[in-house]
Amino acid sequence: MPKIKMPMALQEALEAYRANSVQAFRFDMSVSHEPLGSALGSPSGSVKSASEALSSIFGCDRSWITSMGSTTSNHVCMAYIGRMFPGKPVLVTANPHLSLVNSAVDFNVPLRFVPIEFEPAFELPVLPSAKLVKGCLGEFPDVAAIVVTSPTYEGLNADAESITHLVRQVHPNIPIFFDNAWGWGLDTPLAHGADVVVRSSHKMDGAWQGGGVLLAQEAHVDIDVLSQCVSARFSTSQSYPILASVEMCYGLWHHFGPTLSRCFSAWSDEIRTLLADAGIEVLDEDKISQFRDSGQVAFLDKRKITFSSKPKTGFELSEVIHETAHYIPEKAGISNVTLIASLKALSLDPTEVAENILKCIDAPFPEKTKDSNSPDRSPTNMMPPLCLNKWEELRVLEAHEAVRRETERVPLEEASDRIAAELITPYPPGIPIIIPGQRITDEGIEYIRLLCSLGGDVVAEDASMKEIRVVAS
Ligand SMILES: Cc1ncc(COP(=O)(O)O)c(C=O)c1O
Repeated sequence: MPKIKMPMALQEALEAYRANSVQAFRFDMSVSHEPLGSALGSPSGSVKSASEALSSIFGCDRSWITSMGSTTSNHVCMAYIGRMFPGKPVLVTANPHLSLVNSAVDFNVPLRFVPIEFEPAFELPVLPSAKLVKGCLGEFPDVAAIVVTSPTYEGLNADAESITHLVRQVHPNIPIFFDNAWGWGLDTPLAHGADVVVRSSHKMDGAWQGGGVLLAQEAHVDIDVLSQCVSARFSTSQSYPILASVEMCYGLWHHFGPTLSRCFSAWSDEIRTLLADAGIEVLDEDKISQFRDSGQVAFLDKRKITFSSKPKTGFELSEVIHETAHYIPEKAGISNVTLIASLKALSLDPTEVAENILKCIDAPFPEKTKDSNSPDRSPTNMMPPLCLNKWEELRVLEAHEAVRRETERVPLEEASDRIAAELITPYPPGIPIIIPGQRITDEGIEYIRLLCSLGGDVVAEDASMKEIRVVAS
């Protein structure tokens, strides 16, 4: 990619704004200030210059900067699909973030899913191969768009190139969206044939919390309509400092990308090696070789460090690491923990980090869970119910229809066989295990109980999971 000068329009404008406002923070930074401009569908002022610079370094036709995360960008994408293809289903890999399902519900977009696999040792949702995605197009010939969520929370990357290639053999013009919230750097699925990419710049790229980008190519997307969907959803008063942090972080990637990548690899390789040498099961390329061979995974993100928490549960180990070693593990599961090599982490000595993790694995169980009355606190390799894989057999109503019916709340233990009217989502990773419109199974209820008893967090109307909302009988 040719090196271009990045003018840092927003940074300069912010500095000028600060210099001119004697006490900048006495003013409301997010109220439109003409030189800074607007981040709506057709950006203006410095936001426009920054967006154009980002389009240039990402090599795309249009880009929007947001201070409202990938959640809002996913809503923009579903709003676009709902508006362009009313009533037509969207084909989604069965590992969607809840924001995708919520927005499909809001915009009346019927959902169809490409099944995923589940690797129990490291609790990995494994993406579908391109062949499987193509096969599903045969099964659902009327789908209007495709959404792939890649990479996964744990850093498995889909083979974007093969997916877009095989999909285009069936539907030359279908728009292909990638929820690339966990991607990083300047390589995005756009370079491999995707049309729209959603990225959380605050997760791996180093922007401030909430920062993100929405990137688009115009070949299979009506950019004017997408832009209208942005205008209707992005705030008119976004946080300029957050927008500027997005611009800044890509300036960093543009100028120092290869160096940063090398530093991240060296940092996380050292931690992986030290943990593995101490006998801890650590996720690495070898452990996913069968998924690479089958075309389900193109590569594993080196900046994600996933390892076994046994004998503790992932939830317990995460708590000990947080309290005693002062890092926040990004994801805890039943028997694993995932850490991220963040920009800040690079300032920490990886040997010390690994030693502290090993101490945490050997440390006493956290006080809170010692007297837990859960039936079995030991980490198990229990499979999640993967209800989205079984959507065709469990679907009684479309998700958007179920939430518009009369509904009621019932105790979880009485919910078997009822039709769900809400999303139930273990968080992280944020992939729903129950969605509106599906018949609730015993297996689903059992898994929710297990998660709650082990200390996992579930996003639901009643987070204690005593009750669940269902379609009224
Ligand atoms: C795959 C995926 N998409 C979207 C989101 C939402 O991202 P944000 O926090 O930037 O709104 C998440 C959050 O973790 C995610 O994992």
